[in-house]
Amino acid sequence: MQKPTIAPSILSADFSQLGVQVRSAALAGAKYIHIDVMDGHFVPNLTIGPLVTAALKPLALEMGLILDVHLMIEKPELLIPDFAKAGADILTVHVEACPHLHRTLQQIRELGVKPGVALNPATMLFAVAPVMSMVDYVLVMSVNPGFGGQSYIPESTARIRLLRQMLTELNSTADLSVDGGVKVDNAKMIANAGANVLVAGSAVFNAKASIAENMAQFWQALASE
Ligand code: DX5
Ligand code: ZN
Repeated sequence: MQKPTIAPSILSADFSQLGVQVRSAALAGAKYIHIDVMDGHFVPNLTIGPLVTAALKPLALEMGLILDVHLMIEKPELLIPDFAKAGADILTVHVEACPHLHRTLQQIRELGVKPGVALNPATMLFAVAPVMSMVDYVLVMSVNPGFGGQSYIPESTARIRLLRQMLTELNSTADLSVDGGVKVDNAKMIANAGANVLVAGSAVFNAKASIAENMAQFWQALASE
């Protein structure tokens, strides 16, 4: 399993300073930048799309960042080509939004992007079993998707453990990502359960401390015994 890393979610960033803040996150050691795309239908919130993804691409290339795009939208197949063109490195779709999940993951792969699959907190893990060998990224929602700043759902930990076992049995090198309520004080526990990408929004971008300070605290927590 890859060393655990923090993927800052720009959902909580100051959008008037987006480039500056993403650069700070990169300088503080972030390798992934998590982009939350919401359509106001699949989730009750409306955020950003291919335009902002494309706007971040030159900076991502300069800083060696992976653009990890989380599609919380209905009919993702209609927008996947636009996100591929915008420079997404990983495109994650929700199993709940894809009646033809196998085809949608193939579509992403054919466009030269790494396919990912996400599960809401109440979705059976076996819903993704048939496609586990097709994906490079499995995302466990540890809050109900739609908003930053919610509390981690404790039952998520057992789900992470089981998904890690499923990936190990397949000899898969896919990332196992956890999204929602990740904080400095639960990061190590989540990594120990088997997650290697820890998405963190409000714990990275907030008014309490700088991005550099918040990231440093995460690295310290992950390095602890
Ligand atoms: C929630 C999003 C998350 C969100 C996490 O629907 O998918 O990526 O930014 O935010 P925090 O870390 O504040 O829970
Ligand atoms: Zn997300």
